[in-house]
Amino acid sequence: MSQSSAIDLRDPASSPAGEHGAAPSASGAGGAAANDSKVERLNSASARRLIDPDVDVQGRPRPIEDGAILPPELLSIAGLDLSLSEEQLAILAREELASITNMGLRFEAVLMAGFCLQMSVAEDLTDPRVVYALHEVGEETRHSRLFSRMIRDLAPTAVNPLDKPIMRRLQIWSEGQIIKRPALLDVLILAGEEIPDLFQKRAAEHPDTDPFVKAVSKYHRQEEARHLAFARMTVGEHWARAGWLERFLVRRVAPLVIGDMFGMTVHPGVYETIGLPGWETWKKANKSPARLQMRYEACAGVLRALIEAGVLRSGRIPSGWRRLCGVDRHASPAAG
Ligand SMILES: [Fe+2]
Ligand SMILES: [Fe+2]
Repeated sequence: MSQSSAIDLRDPASSPAGEHGAAPSASGAGGAAANDSKVERLNSASARRLIDPDVDVQGRPRPIEDGAILPPELLSIAGLDLSLSEEQLAILAREELASITNMGLRFEAVLMAGFCLQMSVAEDLTDPRVVYALHEVGEETRHSRLFSRMIRDLAPTAVNPLDKPIMRRLQIWSEGQIIKRPALLDVLILAGEEIPDLFQKRAAEHPDTDPFVKAVSKYHRQEEARHLAFARMTVGEHWARAGWLERFLVRRVAPLVIGDMFGMTVHPGVYETIGLPGWETWKKANKSPARLQMRYEACAGVLRALIEAGVLRSGRIPSGWRRLCGVDRHASPAAG
């Protein structure tokens, strides 16, 4: 399969040659052929492991009177030394999970919009990447239905202070900018999948997590492992054809967007449901060593994927990425 048949919505005429930097090797003819067989394997795995959450992941989180669905150490306030009652911890666990799931579902909607846009203009609809995108969209719609069910059963009451008409308009505009840029979309997909993956890994492995929440986490992680493999591969292909503006956005703007995404997985309104000051607690939580460590760990996977794909180079890691991941210019953990 030639490189040109990879999913890419960009009209070649819109990318003047002068915009292009040195292309990474991952997308050469040999690289594209190797990637074809990787995608074929992902296609077979997705075809074999079809899960219908309405049949295979039944049940619901335990009711609030039966205790917290997540242990305190998995909550965003871990390490803040707040003295909270059992009841407050039980409420907070449900509200935090609902906030994370809500953001996850919306993020997946953007991913699907981007994939569908790319497919609508793909040169070759028989490309294994197109077939995989269809598998991925299918998997996202199925586990998104499960997320919707879980949010309904969690019945959160928190009000997101950013949920305002002006923010929705800004969201529509910025999502439009993202989905038309395949490399940028891939970078955000990597982050949008690595961040919940780390949270769900911890939830799935902890003995005190509610059994239904564990089941949801395990199921989602299985599918996301393939999605991550796909994004790690396509990001190099899309980067090779990205223009200067898209490259600038990936180097300088994407880490800011990812930092905001991470911070808002638990929005400030969540803390208000247990009588804490919303923004104040949110700021403290996001500066806590435990939370920073979690961000560094989740984003390390994104950074590694970008270096391996030739998008970023060790020795020249841009400052925003260094701050996001807590690393130096060589992608090694920063001192202090
Ligand atoms: Fe997903
Ligand atoms: Fe996914």
